[in-house]
Amino acid sequence: MSGDEPVPLQPTAGADEPELDRALRPRTLAEFVGQDRVREQLTILLEAARRRHEVVEHCLLCGPPGLGKTTLAAIIAAELEVQVRVSSGPAIEHPGALASILTNLGPGDVIFIDEIHRLQRTVEESLYPAMEDFTFDYVTGKGSGADAIRIPLQRFTVVGATTRLGMLTAPLRDRFGVTFRLELYSPPELAAIIRRSARLLEVAVEPSAVELLARRARGTPRVANRLLRRMRDFAEVRARGRVTEAVAEEALRLLEVDTLGLDATDRRLLRVICEHFGGGPVGLGTVAVSLGETEETVEDVHEPYLIQAGLLARTPRGRVVTATAYRHLGLRPPATLPALEPDRLPLDP
Ligand SMILES: Nc1ncnc2c1ncn2[C@@H]1O[C@H](COP(=O)(O)OP(=O)(O)O)[C@@H](O)[C@H]1O
Ligand SMILES: [Mg+2]
Repeated sequence: MSGDEPVPLQPTAGADEPELDRALRPRTLAEFVGQDRVREQLTILLEAARRRHEVVEHCLLCGPPGLGKTTLAAIIAAELEVQVRVSSGPAIEHPGALASILTNLGPGDVIFIDEIHRLQRTVEESLYPAMEDFTFDYVTGKGSGADAIRIPLQRFTVVGATTRLGMLTAPLRDRFGVTFRLELYSPPELAAIIRRSARLLEVAVEPSAVELLARRARGTPRVANRLLRRMRDFAEVRARGRVTEAVAEEALRLLEVDTLGLDATDRRLLRVICEHFGGGPVGLGTVAVSLGETEETVEDVHEPYLIQAGLLARTPRGRVVTATAYRHLGLRPPATLPALEPDRLPLDP
C-alpha cells in the first residue's frame, strides 16, 4: 500500500444506495439467483395463471431485509407483463388513499405493499374485501347519515412484503394464497450475484476476491452489492481498478467486516451479551437499549445472520450467545454457559 490519503469508506447505506439497488436488480426470474424453492413455486404459479388467463393469487414475501423481496415483486409483474404499483404499509395513510390506488389499477396489475405488517387497521380492514371480492366498500358521512358505496375493482394481485410474518394479523395472512419465505443465501449463490453485479458495474474482480466477498456478505445480496461497490472505490484509488484478494481483504478490514462477515454492530451485540449479561438469557428490549438500536433492527437485521452462523440463539427466556461467539470475540467462554433451548422458528418471532 502506498501512503496516499485514506479512502472514505462507509459501511452504512449512503443516499445513493437505493439507486444502486435498482441498477443491479434482476428483471426476470431467470436472472434471479438462488432461492430455488421459491423460484420453482413461483414459476408454476405464474405459468398456471397464464394458462388459465387468470390473475395470480395474492402472494406474501417474507424474510430479512436485502434478500430480494422488492426485486421479486417487480419480477412477478414483469413476467406477467402487467404494471406494478409500489406502495408500503406506512405510506397508505387512510382507506381513501388505498381506494385511489386500487381504482387506478388495470386488469391483472400488481400492487406491491412493502412492510405490509405496518398497515393502519382501518386500511387493512378495507383491503380484505378488495382482496377477496375485488370490491371496495367506501364509507361516506358519519353516524346515522353514513352511507357505504360499493366500488367494483379490476381483478388484481397483491404482493405483500414483510420482515416479520409474526406481526401480520391472522385475517390478513389468510387472504394470501401463497407465502414465500426467503432464506439467507449461501456463499456460492452470493458469488454468482457478485459476478453478475461486477459485470454490470464494469469492475474487474478476481475469482478469489469474489469468494472472499461472498463469505463475508452475511448471506445478503444487498450487503454483497454494497461491499462490492466499496471495493470498486477502493480499487480505483489504490489498485488501478482491479479488485484482487489483497484489495478485498484491505477494504473489508477498513469497513470493520470480520472473518465471519460480522460488522461492528453485530460484534457489539454479542459483546454486550457476553460481558454484561454473562452470556444471557437476556431480553430483546434490553439488548436493543444497550446497543442504542431499535428492537426491530436487532431482530430483523442482526439476529438472523448471527443465529445462522451459530453465534446466537433465541430461547423462550431470551437471547443467549454460544461458546463459538465467545471464542470469535477472543473471550473465554464461561465454564457454565447458559443452556440453549432454541425455539422452533428462529426467524419467526
Ligand atoms: N436473488 C437475487 N439475485 C440477484 N440479485 C439480488 C437477488 N436478491 C436481491 N438482489 C439484489 O439485492 C438488492 C436488494 O434486494 P431487494 O429486492 O431490494 O431486497 P428486499 O426488498 O428484500 O429488502 C438489490 O440490488 C437486488 O438486485
Ligand atoms: Mg424491499
